[in-house]
Amino acid sequence: MRPYEELIVPIPDYPKPGIVFQDLTPAFADGAAFAAMVDDLAAHFAGAGITKVVGAEARGFIVGAAVALRLGAGFVPCRKPGKLPRTTLRESYVLEYGTDALEIHADALTPDDVVLIVDDLVATGGTTTAMVRLVRASGAHLAGLGFVMELAFLSPRAVIAEETDAEVFSLIAVE
Ligand code: PRP
Ligand code: ADE
Repeated sequence: MRPYEELIVPIPDYPKPGIVFQDLTPAFADGAAFAAMVDDLAAHFAGAGITKVVGAEARGFIVGAAVALRLGAGFVPCRKPGKLPRTTLRESYVLEYGTDALEIHADALTPDDVVLIVDDLVATGGTTTAMVRLVRASGAHLAGLGFVMELAFLSPRAVIAEETDAEVFSLIAVE
């Protein structure tokens, strides 16, 4: 088993009954495990010419920024509404346990950018769909999507496939 895999803790009934919350914070807190996680994600997309990694507040920042550093790419944040100070593009989305919206600075990506979307976890695919739409609205090329964990039983790949044919790669799939 890879070092980060055994450090991810399933928490039943959080944040509400029926949800099994996958807590990745112990895997982030272990230096060797965090490095292996970031290396494994970055290695998969090395050679794809990624110029920008796009990640969503808040856990997507932890993994996304680290992967960007490994790939020699920049990092572009998608933030909850009202947090970015300049002109933004905005997309609403549905979560496994709620709804929200994400914004990106309108000038953060250009048509020359080759983008990798990174998040710690994909569940329904709602957050990812919002990010894909923001990247598309920015005019950049989406080259791939990378996740540490994929809740495959929620079929996020089918949701993502409706938005993009870019490659989806996850380190751990929960069936
Ligand atoms: C979590 C996770 C993903 C998203 C996945 O973030 O980090 O971004 O949920 O769920 P989905 O595929 O159903 O959209 P959350 O919105 O809980 O915010 P956080 O990172 O601030 O904890
Ligand atoms: N984000 C959405 N669903 C989640 C889950 N089950 N565990 C951790 N983060 C999540």
